[in-house]
Amino acid sequence: MTEGLLTAAYIIASILFILSLRGLSHPESARSGNIYGMSGMLIAVIATILGSQSASVEAILVAMIIGGVIGAVVAMRVEMTGMPQLVAILHSFVGLAAVLVGYANYLDPAAASHFSGAAKTIHDVEIFLGILIGAVTFTGSVIAFGKLQAVIGSKPLLLPARHWLNLGLGLASIWLGIEFVNASTVSEGATILAMMTIIALAFGVHMVMAIGGADMPVVVSMLNSYSGWAAAATGFMLSNDLLIITGALVGSSGAILSYIMSKAMNRSFISVIAGGFGTTSGGGSSAEVEGETVSITAEETAGLLREAKSIVIVPGYGMAVAQAQHPIAEITKRLRANGANVRFGIHPVAGRLPGHMNVLLAEARVPYDIVLEMDEINGDLPNTDIVLVIGANDTVNPAAKDDPNSPIAGMPVVEVWNAKNVIVMKRGMASGYAGVANPLFFKENTRMLFGDAKDGVDTILREL
Ligand code: TAP
Repeated sequence: MTEGLLTAAYIIASILFILSLRGLSHPESARSGNIYGMSGMLIAVIATILGSQSASVEAILVAMIIGGVIGAVVAMRVEMTGMPQLVAILHSFVGLAAVLVGYANYLDPAAASHFSGAAKTIHDVEIFLGILIGAVTFTGSVIAFGKLQAVIGSKPLLLPARHWLNLGLGLASIWLGIEFVNASTVSEGATILAMMTIIALAFGVHMVMAIGGADMPVVVSMLNSYSGWAAAATGFMLSNDLLIITGALVGSSGAILSYIMSKAMNRSFISVIAGGFGTTSGGGSSAEVEGETVSITAEETAGLLREAKSIVIVPGYGMAVAQAQHPIAEITKRLRANGANVRFGIHPVAGRLPGHMNVLLAEARVPYDIVLEMDEINGDLPNTDIVLVIGANDTVNPAAKDDPNSPIAGMPVVEVWNAKNVIVMKRGMASGYAGVANPLFFKENTRMLFGDAKDGVDTILREL
Protein backbone atom coordinates (compact mmCIF):
# COMPACT_ATOMS: atom_id res chain seq x y z
CA MET A 1 0.00 0.00 0.00
CA THR A 2 1.45 3.40 -0.95
CA GLU A 3 1.96 6.14 1.62
CA GLY A 4 -0.72 8.26 -0.12
CA LEU A 5 -3.34 5.50 -0.03
CA LEU A 6 -2.55 4.78 3.61
CA THR A 7 -2.98 8.45 4.53
CA ALA A 8 -6.27 8.63 2.59
CA ALA A 9 -7.55 5.51 4.39
CA TYR A 10 -6.58 6.98 7.76
CA ILE A 11 -8.36 10.26 6.98
CA ILE A 12 -11.54 8.42 5.90
CA ALA A 13 -11.41 6.26 9.06
CA SER A 14 -10.95 9.37 11.23
CA ILE A 15 -13.95 11.08 9.61
CA LEU A 16 -16.05 7.96 10.18
CA PHE A 17 -15.01 7.91 13.87
CA ILE A 18 -16.08 11.54 14.25
CA LEU A 19 -19.43 10.78 12.56
CA SER A 20 -19.75 7.78 14.88
CA LEU A 21 -19.33 9.92 17.99
CA ARG A 22 -21.89 12.36 16.62
CA GLY A 23 -24.34 9.51 15.98
CA LEU A 24 -23.85 8.06 19.43
CA SER A 25 -24.90 11.32 21.06
CA HIS A 26 -28.61 10.50 20.57
CA PRO A 27 -30.53 7.21 20.87
CA GLU A 28 -32.26 7.80 17.52
CA SER A 29 -28.97 8.07 15.61
CA ALA A 30 -26.98 5.62 17.79
CA ARG A 31 -27.46 2.71 15.39
CA SER A 32 -25.98 4.63 12.45
CA GLY A 33 -23.25 5.91 14.82
CA ASN A 34 -22.27 2.30 15.50
CA ILE A 35 -22.21 1.49 11.80
CA TYR A 36 -19.94 4.49 11.10
CA GLY A 37 -17.64 3.38 13.92
CA MET A 38 -17.45 -0.23 12.72
CA SER A 39 -16.81 0.85 9.11
CA GLY A 40 -14.08 3.24 10.27
CA MET A 41 -12.45 0.50 12.32
CA LEU A 42 -12.61 -1.96 9.42
CA ILE A 43 -10.87 0.53 7.11
CA ALA A 44 -8.33 1.35 9.83
CA VAL A 45 -7.49 -2.33 10.47
CA ILE A 46 -7.18 -3.22 6.77
CA ALA A 47 -5.04 -0.14 6.06
CA THR A 48 -2.82 -0.86 9.06
CA ILE A 49 -2.27 -4.48 8.04
CA LEU A 50 -1.58 -3.66 4.39
CA GLY A 51 0.51 -0.63 5.28
CA SER A 52 2.65 -2.34 7.87
CA GLN A 53 6.24 -2.64 6.77
CA SER A 54 7.85 -4.51 9.60
CA ALA A 55 5.35 -6.82 11.31
CA SER A 56 4.33 -10.13 9.77
CA VAL A 57 0.80 -10.05 8.37
CA GLU A 58 0.29 -13.68 9.41
CA ALA A 59 1.13 -12.88 13.04
CA ILE A 60 -1.31 -9.95 13.03
CA LEU A 61 -4.07 -12.10 11.54
CA VAL A 62 -3.54 -14.91 14.06
CA ALA A 63 -3.61 -12.41 16.95
CA MET A 64 -6.75 -10.78 15.52
CA ILE A 65 -8.56 -14.10 15.14
CA ILE A 66 -7.73 -15.17 18.72
CA GLY A 67 -8.68 -11.75 20.16
CA GLY A 68 -11.76 -11.47 17.92
CA VAL A 69 -13.14 -14.87 18.91
CA ILE A 70 -12.62 -14.21 22.64
CA GLY A 71 -14.16 -10.73 22.29
CA ALA A 72 -17.18 -12.03 20.34
CA VAL A 73 -17.88 -14.85 22.82
CA VAL A 74 -17.58 -12.53 25.84
CA ALA A 75 -19.73 -9.80 24.23
CA MET A 76 -22.45 -12.28 23.27
CA ARG A 77 -22.56 -13.78 26.75
CA VAL A 78 -22.50 -10.56 28.76
CA GLU A 79 -25.76 -9.45 30.35
CA MET A 80 -26.75 -5.83 29.86
CA THR A 81 -26.21 -5.32 33.60
CA GLY A 82 -22.65 -6.66 33.28
CA MET A 83 -21.73 -4.20 30.53
CA PRO A 84 -19.95 -1.62 32.78
CA GLN A 85 -17.62 -4.33 34.12
CA LEU A 86 -16.86 -5.42 30.58
CA VAL A 87 -16.14 -1.84 29.55
CA ALA A 88 -13.88 -1.40 32.60
CA ILE A 89 -11.87 -4.54 31.87
CA LEU A 90 -11.54 -3.55 28.20
CA HIS A 91 -10.13 -0.20 29.30
CA SER A 92 -7.57 -2.10 31.35
CA PHE A 93 -6.39 -3.90 28.18
CA VAL A 94 -5.80 -0.57 26.44
CA GLY A 95 -3.74 0.57 29.44
CA LEU A 96 -1.74 -2.66 29.53
CA ALA A 97 -1.13 -2.46 25.77
CA ALA A 98 0.24 1.08 26.17
CA VAL A 99 2.63 -0.14 28.91
CA LEU A 100 3.86 -3.08 26.81
CA VAL A 101 4.27 -1.00 23.64
CA GLY A 102 6.17 1.60 25.68
CA TYR A 103 8.65 -0.96 27.03
CA ALA A 104 9.01 -2.67 23.65
CA ASN A 105 9.65 0.68 22.03
CA TYR A 106 12.24 1.70 24.58
CA LEU A 107 14.10 -1.61 24.64
CA ASP A 108 14.05 -2.12 20.85
CA PRO A 109 17.54 -1.06 19.65
CA ALA A 110 16.23 -0.38 16.12
CA ALA A 111 13.62 2.10 17.39
CA ALA A 112 16.17 3.86 19.62
CA SER A 113 18.62 4.39 16.76
CA HIS A 114 16.00 6.46 14.85
CA PHE A 115 16.20 9.32 17.34
CA SER A 116 18.88 11.68 18.57
CA GLY A 117 19.09 15.09 20.27
CA ALA A 118 15.76 16.90 20.82
CA ALA A 119 13.84 14.21 18.88
CA LYS A 120 15.13 11.58 21.32
CA THR A 121 14.04 13.67 24.31
CA ILE A 122 10.56 14.05 22.82
CA HIS A 123 10.41 10.33 22.07
CA ASP A 124 11.50 9.51 25.64
CA VAL A 125 8.79 11.79 27.03
CA GLU A 126 6.23 10.02 24.82
CA ILE A 127 7.35 6.63 26.13
CA PHE A 128 7.36 7.81 29.74
CA LEU A 129 3.88 9.36 29.51
CA GLY A 130 2.49 6.40 27.54
CA ILE A 131 3.61 3.93 30.20
CA LEU A 132 2.52 6.22 33.05
CA ILE A 133 -1.01 6.77 31.71
CA GLY A 134 -1.23 3.14 30.61
CA ALA A 135 -0.25 1.77 34.03
CA VAL A 136 -2.71 4.06 35.91
CA THR A 137 -5.45 3.07 33.44
CA PHE A 138 -4.59 -0.61 33.83
CA THR A 139 -4.83 -0.97 37.61
CA GLY A 140 -7.53 1.71 37.94
CA SER A 141 -9.71 -0.21 35.48
CA VAL A 142 -9.04 -3.56 37.16
CA ILE A 143 -10.16 -2.09 40.52
CA ALA A 144 -13.19 -0.47 38.83
CA PHE A 145 -14.03 -3.89 37.38
CA GLY A 146 -13.77 -5.41 40.87
CA LYS A 147 -16.04 -2.75 42.36
CA LEU A 148 -18.64 -2.99 39.59
CA GLN A 149 -18.58 -6.80 39.76
CA ALA A 150 -18.97 -6.51 43.58
CA VAL A 151 -15.74 -8.49 44.11
CA ILE A 152 -14.48 -5.41 45.95
CA GLY A 153 -16.87 -3.50 48.25
CA SER A 154 -18.29 -0.20 46.97
CA LYS A 155 -17.27 1.66 50.15
CA PRO A 156 -14.37 4.09 49.58
CA LEU A 157 -10.99 3.21 51.07
CA LEU A 158 -9.96 6.42 52.76
CA LEU A 159 -6.34 6.24 53.90
CA PRO A 160 -5.55 8.93 56.52
CA ALA A 161 -3.04 10.95 54.47
CA ARG A 162 -4.28 9.96 51.04
CA HIS A 163 -4.02 13.41 49.44
CA TRP A 164 -0.39 13.66 50.58
CA LEU A 165 0.20 10.14 49.31
CA ASN A 166 -1.20 11.11 45.90
CA LEU A 167 0.89 14.27 45.86
CA GLY A 168 4.00 12.27 46.81
CA LEU A 169 3.38 9.74 44.04
CA GLY A 170 2.84 12.57 41.54
CA LEU A 171 6.05 14.37 42.53
CA ALA A 172 8.03 11.12 42.48
CA SER A 173 6.78 10.46 38.94
CA ILE A 174 7.85 13.92 37.76
CA TRP A 175 11.31 13.44 39.30
CA LEU A 176 11.65 9.99 37.70
CA GLY A 177 10.55 11.49 34.37
CA ILE A 178 13.42 14.01 34.51
CA GLU A 179 15.88 11.27 35.50
CA PHE A 180 14.60 9.06 32.67
CA VAL A 181 15.13 11.70 30.00
CA ASN A 182 18.66 12.26 31.31
CA ALA A 183 19.49 8.54 31.62
CA SER A 184 22.75 7.69 29.87
CA THR A 185 22.18 3.99 29.21
CA VAL A 186 19.20 1.89 28.23
CA SER A 187 19.51 -0.26 31.35
CA GLU A 188 19.51 2.85 33.59
CA GLY A 189 16.44 4.16 31.71
CA ALA A 190 14.69 0.80 31.99
CA THR A 191 15.26 0.73 35.78
CA ILE A 192 13.74 4.20 36.12
CA LEU A 193 10.82 3.16 33.90
CA ALA A 194 10.23 0.12 36.12
CA MET A 195 10.19 2.32 39.27
CA MET A 196 7.73 4.73 37.67
CA THR A 197 5.55 1.82 36.50
CA ILE A 198 5.27 0.49 40.05
CA ILE A 199 4.29 3.97 41.29
CA ALA A 200 1.73 4.40 38.50
CA LEU A 201 0.24 0.95 39.13
CA ALA A 202 -0.07 1.78 42.85
CA PHE A 203 -1.61 5.17 42.04
CA GLY A 204 -4.25 3.52 39.81
CA VAL A 205 -5.23 1.16 42.64
CA HIS A 206 -5.32 3.91 45.26
CA MET A 207 -7.24 6.38 43.08
CA VAL A 208 -10.14 4.04 42.35
CA MET A 209 -10.19 2.34 45.79
CA ALA A 210 -10.83 5.79 47.32
CA ILE A 211 -13.96 6.33 45.25
CA GLY A 212 -17.38 5.73 46.77
CA GLY A 213 -20.12 3.76 45.01
CA ALA A 214 -22.18 6.76 43.94
CA ASP A 215 -19.17 8.39 42.27
CA MET A 216 -18.33 5.34 40.14
CA PRO A 217 -20.00 6.73 36.98
CA VAL A 218 -17.45 9.56 36.92
CA VAL A 219 -14.62 7.07 37.37
CA VAL A 220 -15.80 4.77 34.58
CA SER A 221 -15.96 7.67 32.12
CA MET A 222 -12.65 9.03 33.43
CA LEU A 223 -10.93 5.67 32.83
CA ASN A 224 -12.52 5.68 29.38
CA SER A 225 -10.80 9.02 28.83
CA TYR A 226 -7.47 7.74 30.19
CA SER A 227 -7.60 4.72 27.90
CA GLY A 228 -7.98 7.16 24.97
CA TRP A 229 -4.95 9.19 26.07
CA ALA A 230 -2.99 5.96 26.58
CA ALA A 231 -3.84 4.98 22.99
CA ALA A 232 -2.86 8.46 21.75
CA ALA A 233 0.46 8.19 23.59
CA THR A 234 1.00 4.79 21.93
CA GLY A 235 0.26 6.47 18.59
CA PHE A 236 3.01 9.01 19.27
CA MET A 237 5.46 6.25 20.22
CA LEU A 238 4.70 4.32 17.04
CA SER A 239 4.36 7.47 14.88
CA ASN A 240 0.89 6.27 13.89
CA ASP A 241 -1.37 9.23 13.05
CA LEU A 242 -4.61 7.28 13.15
CA LEU A 243 -3.92 5.96 16.64
CA ILE A 244 -3.15 9.51 17.79
CA ILE A 245 -6.42 10.83 16.32
CA THR A 246 -8.53 7.91 17.59
CA GLY A 247 -6.93 8.09 21.04
CA ALA A 248 -7.52 11.84 21.21
CA LEU A 249 -11.17 11.38 20.18
CA VAL A 250 -11.73 8.77 22.88
CA GLY A 251 -9.71 10.77 25.41
CA SER A 252 -11.56 14.03 24.86
CA SER A 253 -15.03 12.52 24.55
CA GLY A 254 -14.38 10.55 27.76
CA ALA A 255 -13.23 13.74 29.46
CA ILE A 256 -16.39 15.56 28.34
CA LEU A 257 -18.52 12.66 29.57
CA SER A 258 -16.72 12.71 32.93
CA TYR A 259 -17.43 16.44 33.18
CA ILE A 260 -21.12 15.90 32.35
CA MET A 261 -21.30 13.09 34.93
CA SER A 262 -19.63 15.22 37.63
CA LYS A 263 -22.03 18.05 36.88
CA ALA A 264 -25.01 15.67 36.98
CA MET A 265 -23.87 14.53 40.41
CA ASN A 266 -23.00 18.03 41.58
CA ARG A 267 -19.42 16.93 42.23
CA SER A 268 -16.24 18.78 41.49
CA PHE A 269 -14.35 16.66 39.00
CA ILE A 270 -11.08 17.17 40.86
CA SER A 271 -12.65 16.10 44.17
CA VAL A 272 -13.93 12.88 42.66
CA ILE A 273 -10.49 12.05 41.25
CA ALA A 274 -8.86 12.93 44.57
CA GLY A 275 -11.24 10.36 46.04
CA GLY A 276 -13.97 9.97 48.61
CA PHE A 277 -15.81 13.21 47.87
CA GLY A 278 -18.79 13.68 50.19
CA THR A 279 -17.63 10.99 52.56
CA THR A 280 -15.11 13.22 54.21
CA SER A 281 -16.69 16.64 53.82
CA GLY A 282 -19.26 16.11 56.55
CA GLY A 283 -17.02 14.04 58.73
CA GLY A 284 -20.05 12.20 60.10
CA SER A 285 -22.16 9.32 58.95
CA SER A 286 -25.53 9.45 57.26
CA ALA A 287 -28.62 9.74 59.42
CA GLU A 288 -30.42 6.59 60.60
CA VAL A 289 -33.67 6.00 58.78
CA GLU A 290 -36.57 4.72 60.84
CA GLY A 291 -40.27 4.25 60.32
CA GLU A 292 -42.82 1.90 58.86
CA THR A 293 -43.42 1.14 55.26
CA VAL A 294 -46.88 0.68 53.74
CA SER A 295 -47.19 -2.07 51.14
CA ILE A 296 -49.44 -2.20 48.11
CA THR A 297 -50.28 -5.06 45.75
CA ALA A 298 -49.80 -5.10 41.99
CA GLU A 299 -53.59 -5.34 41.58
CA GLU A 300 -54.15 -2.22 43.71
CA THR A 301 -51.40 -0.44 41.78
CA ALA A 302 -53.13 -1.25 38.49
CA GLY A 303 -56.37 0.20 39.91
CA LEU A 304 -54.63 3.46 40.90
CA LEU A 305 -52.88 3.73 37.54
CA ARG A 306 -56.19 3.28 35.71
CA GLU A 307 -57.63 6.30 37.55
CA ALA A 308 -54.55 8.55 37.26
CA LYS A 309 -54.38 11.39 34.73
CA SER A 310 -50.66 12.05 34.95
CA ILE A 311 -48.08 9.34 35.58
CA VAL A 312 -44.31 9.49 35.71
CA ILE A 313 -42.25 6.29 35.57
CA VAL A 314 -38.77 6.48 37.11
CA PRO A 315 -36.66 3.45 36.21
CA GLY A 316 -33.36 2.45 37.80
CA TYR A 317 -30.87 -0.37 37.94
CA GLY A 318 -33.52 -2.85 39.19
CA MET A 319 -35.45 -2.46 35.94
CA ALA A 320 -32.31 -3.52 34.06
CA VAL A 321 -31.78 -6.50 36.40
CA ALA A 322 -35.38 -7.64 36.04
CA GLN A 323 -35.46 -6.87 32.29
CA ALA A 324 -38.83 -5.28 32.90
CA GLN A 325 -38.66 -2.68 30.10
CA HIS A 326 -40.86 -4.55 27.60
CA PRO A 327 -43.95 -4.97 29.83
CA ILE A 328 -43.41 -1.39 31.04
CA ALA A 329 -43.52 -0.18 27.43
CA GLU A 330 -46.77 -2.14 26.99
CA ILE A 331 -48.26 -0.65 30.19
CA THR A 332 -47.31 2.80 28.93
CA LYS A 333 -49.11 2.17 25.65
CA ARG A 334 -52.29 1.06 27.43
CA LEU A 335 -52.32 3.92 29.92
CA ARG A 336 -51.80 6.44 27.12
CA ALA A 337 -54.61 4.85 25.12
CA ASN A 338 -56.68 5.30 28.29
CA GLY A 339 -56.02 9.07 28.10
CA ALA A 340 -53.31 9.40 30.77
CA ASN A 341 -50.25 11.59 30.31
CA VAL A 342 -47.42 9.07 30.85
CA ARG A 343 -43.79 10.13 30.87
CA PHE A 344 -40.47 8.72 32.00
CA GLY A 345 -38.04 10.61 34.27
CA ILE A 346 -34.42 9.58 33.74
CA HIS A 347 -31.63 10.37 36.17
CA PRO A 348 -28.28 10.85 34.38
CA VAL A 349 -26.60 8.08 36.41
CA ALA A 350 -29.52 5.68 36.78
CA GLY A 351 -28.40 2.09 36.17
CA ARG A 352 -24.73 1.30 35.74
CA LEU A 353 -23.86 2.89 32.40
CA PRO A 354 -24.26 6.36 30.93
CA GLY A 355 -27.57 6.25 29.06
CA HIS A 356 -28.39 2.78 30.48
CA MET A 357 -32.12 3.49 30.93
CA ASN A 358 -32.43 5.27 27.58
CA VAL A 359 -30.96 2.23 25.81
CA LEU A 360 -33.37 -0.18 27.54
CA LEU A 361 -36.40 2.01 26.85
CA ALA A 362 -35.35 2.50 23.23
CA GLU A 363 -34.98 -1.29 22.91
CA ALA A 364 -38.58 -1.64 24.18
CA ARG A 365 -39.66 1.02 21.65
CA VAL A 366 -40.84 3.62 24.16
CA PRO A 367 -41.29 6.86 22.14
CA TYR A 368 -38.33 9.22 22.70
CA ASP A 369 -40.53 12.27 23.21
CA ILE A 370 -41.96 10.94 26.49
CA VAL A 371 -38.54 10.05 27.91
CA LEU A 372 -37.48 13.17 29.81
CA GLU A 373 -34.34 14.03 31.73
CA MET A 374 -34.37 14.60 35.49
CA ASP A 375 -34.20 18.40 35.14
CA GLU A 376 -37.12 18.40 32.70
CA ILE A 377 -39.39 16.28 34.89
CA ASN A 378 -38.62 17.55 38.41
CA GLY A 379 -40.70 20.73 38.03
CA ASP A 380 -43.77 18.73 36.93
CA LEU A 381 -43.72 16.21 39.76
CA PRO A 382 -45.92 18.20 42.23
CA ASN A 383 -48.73 18.02 39.62
CA THR A 384 -48.24 14.31 39.00
CA ASP A 385 -50.83 11.84 40.31
CA ILE A 386 -48.57 8.79 40.50
CA VAL A 387 -44.85 8.23 40.24
CA LEU A 388 -43.95 4.60 39.62
CA VAL A 389 -40.37 3.98 40.75
CA ILE A 390 -39.10 0.77 39.17
CA GLY A 391 -35.87 -0.53 40.71
CA ALA A 392 -34.43 2.95 41.34
CA ASN A 393 -33.00 3.78 44.75
CA ASP A 394 -30.01 6.18 45.05
CA THR A 395 -31.34 8.33 42.22
CA VAL A 396 -34.63 8.99 44.09
CA ASN A 397 -33.16 9.28 47.59
CA PRO A 398 -34.26 12.46 49.46
CA ALA A 399 -31.22 12.10 51.77
CA ALA A 400 -29.18 13.63 48.94
CA LYS A 401 -31.06 16.89 49.61
CA ASP A 402 -31.87 16.61 53.30
CA ASP A 403 -28.86 14.95 54.95
CA PRO A 404 -25.59 16.91 54.66
CA ASN A 405 -23.64 13.94 56.10
CA SER A 406 -24.91 11.48 53.54
CA PRO A 407 -22.33 10.08 51.08
CA ILE A 408 -24.67 11.24 48.31
CA ALA A 409 -25.26 14.72 49.82
CA GLY A 410 -25.58 17.35 47.12
CA MET A 411 -26.28 14.90 44.30
CA PRO A 412 -29.36 16.06 42.37
CA VAL A 413 -32.07 13.38 42.42
CA VAL A 414 -35.49 12.82 40.84
CA GLU A 415 -37.70 14.40 43.51
CA VAL A 416 -40.42 11.75 43.30
CA TRP A 417 -41.71 12.43 46.83
CA ASN A 418 -43.22 15.72 45.57
CA ALA A 419 -45.81 13.78 43.57
CA LYS A 420 -49.25 13.03 45.04
CA ASN A 421 -48.52 9.28 45.27
CA VAL A 422 -45.32 7.30 44.92
CA ILE A 423 -45.21 3.55 44.32
CA VAL A 424 -41.78 1.97 44.71
CA MET A 425 -41.18 -1.43 43.11
CA LYS A 426 -38.27 -3.40 44.55
CA ARG A 427 -37.66 -6.81 46.09
CA GLY A 428 -36.92 -5.80 49.68
CA MET A 429 -35.42 -3.02 51.75
CA ALA A 430 -31.88 -3.32 50.36
CA SER A 431 -30.00 -0.09 49.73
CA GLY A 432 -28.79 0.99 46.29
CA TYR A 433 -25.28 0.99 44.87
CA ALA A 434 -24.08 3.78 47.17
CA GLY A 435 -25.12 1.73 50.24
CA VAL A 436 -27.26 4.56 51.67
CA ALA A 437 -30.62 4.02 53.44
CA ASN A 438 -33.56 5.66 51.68
CA PRO A 439 -36.14 7.70 53.69
CA LEU A 440 -38.41 7.78 50.62
CA PHE A 441 -39.73 4.31 51.50
CA PHE A 442 -41.13 5.62 54.81
CA LYS A 443 -42.85 8.75 53.50
CA GLU A 444 -46.60 9.14 53.96
CA ASN A 445 -47.37 9.24 50.27
CA THR A 446 -45.15 6.23 49.43
CA ARG A 447 -46.42 2.69 48.90
CA MET A 448 -44.03 -0.25 48.52
CA LEU A 449 -44.74 -2.87 45.88
CA PHE A 450 -42.34 -5.63 46.93
CA GLY A 451 -41.15 -8.30 44.52
CA ASP A 452 -39.21 -8.73 41.31
CA ALA A 453 -39.93 -5.77 39.03
CA LYS A 454 -40.71 -8.00 36.04
CA ASP A 455 -43.27 -10.06 38.00
CA GLY A 456 -44.80 -6.84 39.34
CA VAL A 457 -45.21 -5.14 35.98
CA ASP A 458 -46.45 -8.35 34.36
CA THR A 459 -49.25 -8.53 36.94
CA ILE A 460 -50.06 -4.83 36.50
CA LEU A 461 -50.20 -5.36 32.75
CA ARG A 462 -52.59 -8.29 33.12
CA GLU A 463 -54.84 -6.22 35.41
CA LEU A 464 -54.88 -3.30 32.97
P1 TAP B 1 -29.54 1.66 42.71
O1 TAP B 1 -29.42 2.77 43.66
O2 TAP B 1 -28.33 0.85 42.41
O3 TAP B 1 -30.71 0.70 43.27
C1 TAP B 1 -31.23 -0.34 42.50
C2 TAP B 1 -32.32 -0.99 43.30
O4 TAP B 1 -32.94 -1.94 42.46
C3 TAP B 1 -31.81 -1.74 44.51
O5 TAP B 1 -32.05 -1.03 45.69
C4 TAP B 1 -32.55 -3.09 44.47
O6 TAP B 1 -33.30 -3.24 45.67
C5 TAP B 1 -33.47 -2.95 43.27
N1 TAP B 1 -33.50 -4.17 42.45
C6 TAP B 1 -32.50 -4.96 42.09
N2 TAP B 1 -32.93 -6.00 41.37
C7 TAP B 1 -34.27 -5.86 41.29
C8 TAP B 1 -35.30 -6.61 40.66
N3 TAP B 1 -35.05 -7.75 39.98
N4 TAP B 1 -36.58 -6.17 40.76
C9 TAP B 1 -36.85 -5.04 41.47
N5 TAP B 1 -35.92 -4.30 42.07
C10 TAP B 1 -34.64 -4.70 41.98
O7 TAP B 1 -30.14 2.12 41.31
P2 TAP B 1 -30.27 3.58 40.67
O8 TAP B 1 -31.29 4.40 41.39
O9 TAP B 1 -30.45 3.34 39.22
O10 TAP B 1 -28.88 4.29 40.96
C11 TAP B 1 -27.71 3.94 40.26
C12 TAP B 1 -26.53 3.89 41.22
O11 TAP B 1 -25.43 3.27 40.57
C13 TAP B 1 -26.07 5.27 41.64
O12 TAP B 1 -25.54 5.25 42.94
C14 TAP B 1 -24.96 5.55 40.61
O13 TAP B 1 -24.06 6.52 41.05
C15 TAP B 1 -24.33 4.18 40.55
N6 TAP B 1 -23.57 3.94 39.30
C16 TAP B 1 -24.04 4.42 38.13
C17 TAP B 1 -23.31 4.25 36.97
C18 TAP B 1 -23.82 4.88 35.71
S1 TAP B 1 -22.79 5.46 34.65
N7 TAP B 1 -25.10 4.99 35.49
C19 TAP B 1 -22.09 3.53 36.99
C20 TAP B 1 -21.66 3.00 38.23
C21 TAP B 1 -22.40 3.22 39.38
P3 TAP B 1 -33.75 -4.70 46.16
O14 TAP B 1 -32.50 -5.52 46.24
O15 TAP B 1 -34.41 -4.46 47.47
O16 TAP B 1 -34.70 -5.22 45.13
